Amino acid sequence: MTDELTAPPGLVHLAEGREAEVFLRDDGSVVKIMRSAAQAPRVQREAAALQALAGKEHLAPAFREVTNVAGRPALVSERVTGADFLAVLSRKPWLVLGVAGSLGRAHAAMHEHRAPVSLPELNDELARRIESASALPPNLASEALIRLRTLPSGDRLCHGDYHPANILGTLKAPVIIDWGDASRGAPVADVARTLLLLRAGELPPDTPVAMRALTAVGRGLLTRRYLAVYRRSAGHDLARLDDWMFVRVAARFNEEIEVEYPRLTRLLEEASQ
Ligand SMILES: Nc1ncnc2c1ncn2[C@@H]1O[C@H](COP(=O)(O)OP(=O)(O)O)[C@@H](O)[C@H]1O
Ligand SMILES: [Mg+2]
Repeated sequence: MTDELTAPPGLVHLAEGREAEVFLRDDGSVVKIMRSAAQAPRVQREAAALQALAGKEHLAPAFREVTNVAGRPALVSERVTGADFLAVLSRKPWLVLGVAGSLGRAHAAMHEHRAPVSLPELNDELARRIESASALPPNLASEALIRLRTLPSGDRLCHGDYHPANILGTLKAPVIIDWGDASRGAPVADVARTLLLLRAGELPPDTPVAMRALTAVGRGLLTRRYLAVYRRSAGHDLARLDDWMFVRVAARFNEEIEVEYPRLTRLLEEASQ
């Protein structure tokens, strides 16, 4: 069930994601229709995150409903206007520091929220991903699991895939989308995942066609400023960031992006103790 969907009545095609097709409904809301029925749990996670943020602060689109279109699970939410921040960066690279600041502030604001208990525990999920990553060398998998066991769990709302392509709106009022990996965890774990995505410029992460257009200098600036602003806004010191990075790089193997394997392995070997 991964064939393209012809726009159902009342829906106009808006965008295409890796996991979903996105339509505009005639009432002005956005319908994100997953490509496969197996992705229903991701829709539930996204719905839980949007509901957790509802009415508090405009960090996520307003939740409308969970539904089903032609047998596929779908999430209906408020439409957010404005280009995503990766598109902004590729068109106006001189805005890099502004984008980075907005990214850092919004991430810290997200982590002020306690996650609903319906969301999975991030540490459990990371362990599962590391255990089932078939291309991850066993000695590095063991080290990652040992490190993970010594890391704290947390109760904060974590996004799981927080990077510039998943942020819409304006630099002053960013709106975060794509919450299918939302979980309950430690904020530093969520920051480590973002750093992995931002630094992995020569890898082909999920969206980064435009990211590859950013120069290495631009990427460095983006990453450093994001981290500095996050630290300042969150008011905590990102304890054990190196251990979290190790764990997240190991878990990344589970996404089976083969061209990344040599570099991910190198990163882990360099950090291995
Ligand atoms: N609430 C929304 N308002 C406006 N556009 C949206 C909204 N949700 C998704 N989109 C568009 O659909 C694209 C894919 O949605 P996303 O949730 O990121 O799915 P995927 O998991 O497939 O990346 C986004 O990049 C954006 O262009
Ligand atoms: Mg996305």
